[in-house]
Amino acid sequence: MFGGRCLVALETAGSGREGWSSRSAFVLAAIGSAVGLGNLWRFPAEAGANGGGAFVLFYIFCVVLIGLPLLLSETLIGRHGQSSAPESARRLARESGASRHWSILASLGVLSAFLIVSFYCVVGGWVLHYVWIFTSDLFQTGLSGGAFQGRDPAQIEALWPNLAGNGGLTVALDALFLGITLFFVARGVSSGIEVMAVWLMPAFFVLLIAITVYGAFGGAFHESMAFLFSFEPHKLTGSVMLAALGQAFFSLSLGVAGMITYGGYVGRKVNLATTSVIIAAADTFVALVAGLCIFPIVFAAGLGVNAGPALMFQTLPHAFQSMPFGSLVGIFFFLMVGVAALTSSVALLEVPTSWLMEKTGLRRVPASCTIALGAMILGALSALSTNELAEFYPLNFIPLFEGQGVFDVLDGLTSKLFMPIAAIMTSVFVGWVSDRRLVNAETGLSPTLQGIWRFLVCWLCPLTLFGILAVGIFPNLFI
Ligand code: TRP
Repeated sequence: MFGGRCLVALETAGSGREGWSSRSAFVLAAIGSAVGLGNLWRFPAEAGANGGGAFVLFYIFCVVLIGLPLLLSETLIGRHGQSSAPESARRLARESGASRHWSILASLGVLSAFLIVSFYCVVGGWVLHYVWIFTSDLFQTGLSGGAFQGRDPAQIEALWPNLAGNGGLTVALDALFLGITLFFVARGVSSGIEVMAVWLMPAFFVLLIAITVYGAFGGAFHESMAFLFSFEPHKLTGSVMLAALGQAFFSLSLGVAGMITYGGYVGRKVNLATTSVIIAAADTFVALVAGLCIFPIVFAAGLGVNAGPALMFQTLPHAFQSMPFGSLVGIFFFLMVGVAALTSSVALLEVPTSWLMEKTGLRRVPASCTIALGAMILGALSALSTNELAEFYPLNFIPLFEGQGVFDVLDGLTSKLFMPIAAIMTSVFVGWVSDRRLVNAETGLSPTLQGIWRFLVCWLCPLTLFGILAVGIFPNLFI
């Protein structure tokens, strides 16, 4: 399946630009970009808070009908242009006789990627800290019992608020995580990003399956299956549908120019349609397995699954208390989350880095360091604007941002505004504006599938995304 190593290498080398050394390297890196905190932290949190089965079913529907067509659209813009994301979009626009300003869709993505990486690394830093917490717990309470023996649940649940409230420590952890990310980006596409993905993604899958199988013996596996996969139509409300759509979007890394950037390193011989299906399938598989990994552990401990963002940082550590070998499982669990987060943060940092390199002619090391420095400053602001300071938030006067710190503002701004706008523009650009022949030649689809894909990109994607955008701007529309 992953053949064509030499061909792909020659192709990209021929254009004089860095590239993946094989198709499998691209597929692993793209899966690494898609699989991240979105799958392990956000998906179970959203599924738990939105009632389970109905959310999950609609999520799968969104991945297939909206996510997949857009994923193909983004990769084809990148592969056609063989440049940084904005330049690739500009090239396709120029060759289609359209305005060069269509490249704004990618420029907006570059901006979002920069904003997201700044707070993504804050969360990545917390994850690293949890690896440390469980490691030191292992030394204190020993191997075989549950984690945190002798501590009461309130103490365990206070770990996260204490960490998030400790600005100095959060900034230091953010710097550490960003530093590791920078290390791989600075080394380049084939000797940094690709090497990381090729080693870490298999390790990630082994950890995920091992923890899920172990958790399945805890006794609550059936309960979790029923929660995640029993479809109760009355639970499918407007807000659940929008949550599912937004989640599908974030998880597939759409609207952030990430896939345009990675597509820019792909050789001409690769079939983009098949590749997109593999990426979307792997991402969805990981999200579902993450649900089956986390929920049995939480149910077995008799805890609630609707804690939202606190599910992973508060509920789960609490659940590890009553699990045999709890500290060890905790270490492996958070290592796994850290690996997934790293392969995504690397992709996020690569997007603005490749743009800056092309824009200024800077070489990779200074370009990536400059972007990382900016992300560090913004990340420190996120880390320091904790909930305790809510009344002093500078954007309180705008209803959308009321009572939110920099972290939440950046998250809201990108996921509810910039990403949907960029994605709507992408679907209109690829579906309506670009030259049909150029686009069709890139997709590698048969005529029938081509027709279905076109319909989805031209109609379903922009219209549904318009819905997310409307709700992003007027949050009370459906609630
Ligand atoms: N998909 C990533 C996750 O699930 C997050 C993400 C969103 C991302 N947009 C991106 C990663 C762009 C890389 C590039 O965690």
